[in-house]
Amino acid sequence: MKKIHLGIFDIHTPNQMTQGLWTHPDNQTVRYKELSFWIELAQILERGKFDFMFFADSYGYPKNKRELAFREAVYTPSNDPMLLISALAAATKHLAFVTTASPSYEAPFANARRFSTLDHLTNGRIGWNVVATGGVSGAECFGRGAVLPHNERYDQAEEFMEVSYKLLEGSWEDDAVSADRESRLYADAGKVHIVRHKGNYFNVTASHASEPSIQRTPVLFQAGSSDRGRDFAAKHAEGVFLKAPTLESLKAQVEDIRRRAAAYGRGASEIKIFTGLSAIVGRTRVEAERKRDDYRRHSSREAALLTYENATGIDLAALDPDAPFADMNTEQGRTHTERYTKHSAKPQTARDVMDNFAEKEFRGITLCGTAEDIADRMQYWVEETGVDGFNLERYVLPGTHLDFVDLVVPELQKRGMFRQQYEESTLRERLFGKGATRLADSHPGSGYRRPSHERE
Ligand SMILES: Cc1cc2nc3c(=O)[nH]c(=O)nc-3n(C[C@H](O)[C@H](O)[C@H](O)COP(=O)(O)O)c2cc1C
Repeated sequence: MKKIHLGIFDIHTPNQMTQGLWTHPDNQTVRYKELSFWIELAQILERGKFDFMFFADSYGYPKNKRELAFREAVYTPSNDPMLLISALAAATKHLAFVTTASPSYEAPFANARRFSTLDHLTNGRIGWNVVATGGVSGAECFGRGAVLPHNERYDQAEEFMEVSYKLLEGSWEDDAVSADRESRLYADAGKVHIVRHKGNYFNVTASHASEPSIQRTPVLFQAGSSDRGRDFAAKHAEGVFLKAPTLESLKAQVEDIRRRAAAYGRGASEIKIFTGLSAIVGRTRVEAERKRDDYRRHSSREAALLTYENATGIDLAALDPDAPFADMNTEQGRTHTERYTKHSAKPQTARDVMDNFAEKEFRGITLCGTAEDIADRMQYWVEETGVDGFNLERYVLPGTHLDFVDLVVPELQKRGMFRQQYEESTLRERLFGKGATRLADSHPGSGYRRPSHERE
């Protein structure tokens, strides 16, 4: 049985996943502004030997239903997850952190400096989720009237990666820094190269601000599963977050990404694929089902539909419920339109989509039962689809994480599916084995290392 990797999916807001569940009396997510809340979660996950804590992030909120968005805390308020990470790293030793930064909005120079800083401060426990973001209200936050069309956002993201590799991999030579007090030589300017990038979207003339960190480029993650998204993942990602409506479509997506990676000269094992996992665990099945019913009573259908509209630009309630849900692509994210068209087992009507989405929202595999039940199903999905791990999704916090760590993790360990102890120190080594601290030689980013690439 192959050993799996485990992360959790979170966001620096009071509300995520099942809309409305922030009102549940056991849910402490209204404490999202308190550092102690996040430290407590990180320490629970480290006790459970999790690989990483992943924070999604985006800008803007659903402006066309403002009253509902604020009433139900749909994508608002929203704090910056990156600013949590130094504090969480100080309160843990092994747990790694993956956070989101969007090439659609960030500046590559500042972004590279932030990730290098975090790689230094966490001693290599950092990953970057690269998202070609498509929200309209997000674009307005940055003074951009219109969001770039879908495929052009991926062109922009491609160029963002190129500049990032130039800065992170190519600017400072490995032995540029001596930090020698006696000879009064901190760094040798001759070994710090100026990146001169002039492109369609970005112009940068600078040497990288930070000296080389242990991983240099943070471990790269990606989550868009449209055609362009998967191609981007196959080329750049070392970790991919995939969700699919059926086992068959997840398996097909996993195979597709690995096939595309091979076409870029990368090995199948150079990309770890994670799928979302929502697990309601009880000491008995009855206890788990009782929890599930209780959670359902706190959910909000109108808020759930608003999250769909925000992700896709489609107001499901405004469609004719009996009309077929086909050819529904918009210029916003496509993952959640294609989930009900291309990747669906059978044709859907607007009503089907509405009912399914209100129940599942953005959750991945949804399980409810005892620890043995959950471990059985996880094992089955790994064996059948070839995924390498799971991203645990919250219902109530810290309850969801506590149940998983106390009940499911020991069961996975008993089956030899999950580590008993941490061994490797950096995130990249944890995913790819001891010694793999830097991008693999077959990764396109490694081509920007000196002296193979001229950048002046
Ligand atoms: C696990 C996971 C994490 C995601 N994280 C983010 C995120 O942090 N920010 C965001 O805007 N979208 C996030 N998404 C959504 C997709 O990345 C989003 O749909 C993407 O912008 C659109 O790409 P696509 O058109 O290729 O689907 C996430 C999706 C998944 C499955």
